[in-house]
Order: sequence, then C-alpha cells, then structure tokens
Amino acid sequence: MRLTKEGFRLTFTTAMDAERLAGAKTWRVSRFRYLYLPSGSPRADEAPSKVAAIRPSAEARSVELALADLEPGYIYEVEPEGLVSAEGRSLENPLAFYTLNRLLDGRGFTGPMSEPLLIAKAESGDGPDPEAGRQVYATFCGTCHQPDGSGGGLPGAQQLAAANFRQRGPDGPLAKPDEVLLKIITEGAEEKPMPPFGGVLQPGQIRDVLAYLRAAFGEENP
Ligand code: HEC
Repeated sequence: MRLTKEGFRLTFTTAMDAERLAGAKTWRVSRFRYLYLPSGSPRADEAPSKVAAIRPSAEARSVELALADLEPGYIYEVEPEGLVSAEGRSLENPLAFYTLNRLLDGRGFTGPMSEPLLIAKAESGDGPDPEAGRQVYATFCGTCHQPDGSGGGLPGAQQLAAANFRQRGPDGPLAKPDEVLLKIITEGAEEKPMPPFGGVLQPGQIRDVLAYLRAAFGEENP
C-alpha cells in the first residue's frame, strides 16, 4: 500500500479479478485517529472515507484509489470486500492500514482538531458552550464513556463503571466541582485509563465539554 497524490495504490502479488478490482462495492475505506497518549487510545474521529475514483492497472496487478478526504494525521483502513485473484483465490491479508503523517506535497499534520471541531470552536462565544462540547464528546469521549454517558466502553470495562456520568448522588462523577473535573479532563486520572486531554483540546474546549456533561447528564437532566 503506497501513498499517491490523491490516495493510495495497492499492489498485489498476482493478477486480480479485473471486474472486482474495479468495482465500487469492493472498496471499503475508513479513517480514524489515535490520541497518542501514554495510556493508549481508542479509535477517535472515526468515519468512512469516500472513494472518489478507482483506477485499476492494465494487468490488474494494482489499483489506485483516489480519496475525497485525504488528510495527514489519520490512519486509513482499507478492507477490500470479495476481492479475489484472477484464479479465484481470496486474499491472504484482507486488511491494510496506512498511517498518514505527511502528504506527497509535504503537507503535515498541523493540529489535533478535526474539521467539525474547528467549526464548533469558531462558533462558540466566550462562555462555555455545551453545543460545541457535544461535538468534542462525540469525537473524543464517547468511545469510552458511551454516547449515553453510561461508561462501560473500552478499555477495562470494570474501571469504566467509575466513569458513569448517569450515576447520581455524592459519589457520582458529576457531583465534583468544576475545578476538580476540569483538572481531571486536562491531566487525566492518575493510574486510571482516563487519558489527559490537555495536549489534545484547547482549554475552552475542555470547558465546553464539561458544560455538555452537565447539560446532558447532570442533575438538571434526569
Ligand atoms: C480511554 C478511555 C477514556 C476516554 C477516551 C475518556 N475517558 Fe473519561 N474516564 C475514563 C475512565 C476509565 C474513567 C474512570 C476513572 C476512575 O476510575 O476514576 C473516566 C473518568 C472520567 C471523569 C470522572 C472523573 C472522576 O474522578 O469522577 C470525567 C469527568 C471524564 N472521565 C471526562 C472525560 C471527557 C470529557 C473525555 C473526552 C474529552 C473523556 N473522559 C475521555 C476513560 C476515558
């Protein structure tokens, strides 16, 4: 799997079934990011990638996939569906990944924010904005804390019970004052899989996501 100007070229060890190689249904491409934190990371910002063009070579030994959203800072995942060789043999390795740090024109990854987050930031005023925080939550927190705030996602499901935002009463995570929660989100929870987001999110975005936690899962919203 090699980077091209517009996407990736996949080269096979033998000639492939030409029709399937050129078929739009064959090519499932998606992308995601890792947060690159010491505690490890779930996939963040994951979304399907649109394949804009499929260009098989004349001998059907390779194919170039042009992607609509080729951007540095993502890991691209390519999963050909139903692709077989010209002789009808299935692939030995049916999954390919490419960590895209730099495009061929030299452009590198300039920031951790995905486009939806940048838009959310531009729209937010001075005070914390729970709507902008919703985007941050969906992108960076939901894989572990779950969209409904109940915890229980990866990794270490047991410990994540402590991350259940729907838990009420003095032991519930949201019973803690803002300063304490802002510190945990920024610095992470010591020796726990709650990662530090200080290097990933702007301080304003951390306040936004806390405002979202309170609005979506806090006492006022039973
Ligand atoms: C890799 C998984 C993971 C991700 C991603 C994650 N968290 Fe957590 N979070 C946890 C775990 C596990 C805990 C429970 C820690 C513990 O046991 O005290 C937790 C706890 C918390 C707590 C409660 C802390 C306490 O002591 O009561 C808050 C608030 C929180 N997370 C906010 C966030 C926010 C906001 C995001 C996204 C910006 C986020 N988390 C992303 C795993 C994660």
